[in-house]
Amino acid sequence: MMKLNRFPIPFLFFAILALLFALWAGLLRLGWSLPALTPSLAMAHGPLMISGFLGALITLERAVAIRQKWMYLPPLLAGLGGLLTFLIKPLPLGPILLTLASLGGLGILTVMARRETALHTVTMWLGMLAWLTGNLLWLLGWQISQIIFFWQAYLILTITGERLELSRVLRPTQLQQYLFGGIAFIFLAGTIVSLFNLKLGTALVGVALIFTFFWSLRNDIAWKNLKHKLPLTRYIAWCLALGFVWLGIGGGLNLMFGAQVAGPRYDAILHVVFIGFVISMIFGHAPIIFPAVLGIPIHFQPAFYLQLILLHASLAVRAFADYANLQTLRMWGGLLNEVAILMFIAMTVYSIRKSLLEK
Ligand code: HEM
Repeated sequence: MMKLNRFPIPFLFFAILALLFALWAGLLRLGWSLPALTPSLAMAHGPLMISGFLGALITLERAVAIRQKWMYLPPLLAGLGGLLTFLIKPLPLGPILLTLASLGGLGILTVMARRETALHTVTMWLGMLAWLTGNLLWLLGWQISQIIFFWQAYLILTITGERLELSRVLRPTQLQQYLFGGIAFIFLAGTIVSLFNLKLGTALVGVALIFTFFWSLRNDIAWKNLKHKLPLTRYIAWCLALGFVWLGIGGGLNLMFGAQVAGPRYDAILHVVFIGFVISMIFGHAPIIFPAVLGIPIHFQPAFYLQLILLHASLAVRAFADYANLQTLRMWGGLLNEVAILMFIAMTVYSIRKSLLEK
């Protein structure tokens, strides 16, 4: 019987709880008539997703890898902070805990980047800095739509830094590494500029996202693995490649439709990146990350493709509905996005259980 590493489970529990509340809040924001649970839950959707769920998950993965006790504090603060953000509104306790979590995340990445100073660790470090900066500005009263590119930068730099590390087998040339650095620079410049000139910042971010897609075509191992003979490797490759496609689409939409601060186009531009890229990358990385965190392997099930197809198809419907101003279709697209995510959680739990029961 396999031995489960139980220590990270309570931290994981908070992250999943934050995700479930974030999903509920997402439905409220889409216009489904459901109980509001608390007065501020709907407005806490973004912070719950970005910090309560992904902030906890990403810092937890690092804490397990580096194994220093204090590193478990940021995932705990992120999970708790996410929940307090909509449970107790009058005090900014939740946002303060989330900001402290991102400060801790930056501390973890500082340790990592010092141990190995390389392009990928510096990229991930900048991602954490973007998370902290976005949270600080939000705590100081900036609107989420004003700081949204900082939260995007957090996730995109963390994930692309990780992809750069995992693609080292392809040995990106010096020139390709400079290109990667240049794209990250344009992206960060756009993120900072967006605070003062949203139109210009959005355009710069758009260009950087399109370049990232093209950079991945040549340098990310995912594209080479789309026809790999091992089913799990092939499945992971599809998750990642589709994620890069959405990133490129997101870049194109930023350039075509410009800055958005609310409404259906805001919904589309955010979620092609957050669902199309980030959630697809999570689907793809889960079979690598969960075994590392919990100490047990995840066995590939062909049914994994169901959640993947549903995720991308429903996102395409939602984005189409956003631009065509079809409210009901948009609501269904968003609901099916959530069904895909819940299927993913159920399948992951199922395959972990299966591994545990195997001799
Ligand atoms: C899975 C299903 C999801 C649904 C149904 C959903 C729904 C929504 C809706 C309806 C909005 C408001 C858009 C508008 O103002 O018109 C929104 C905003 C937002 N979403 Fe999502 N979302 C989902 C997933 C995600 C994910 C995975 C992330 C992050 C990784 C995310 C992050 C955000 C953020 C940051 C905002 C902006 C919040 C604000 O301005 O207050 N969402 N979401």
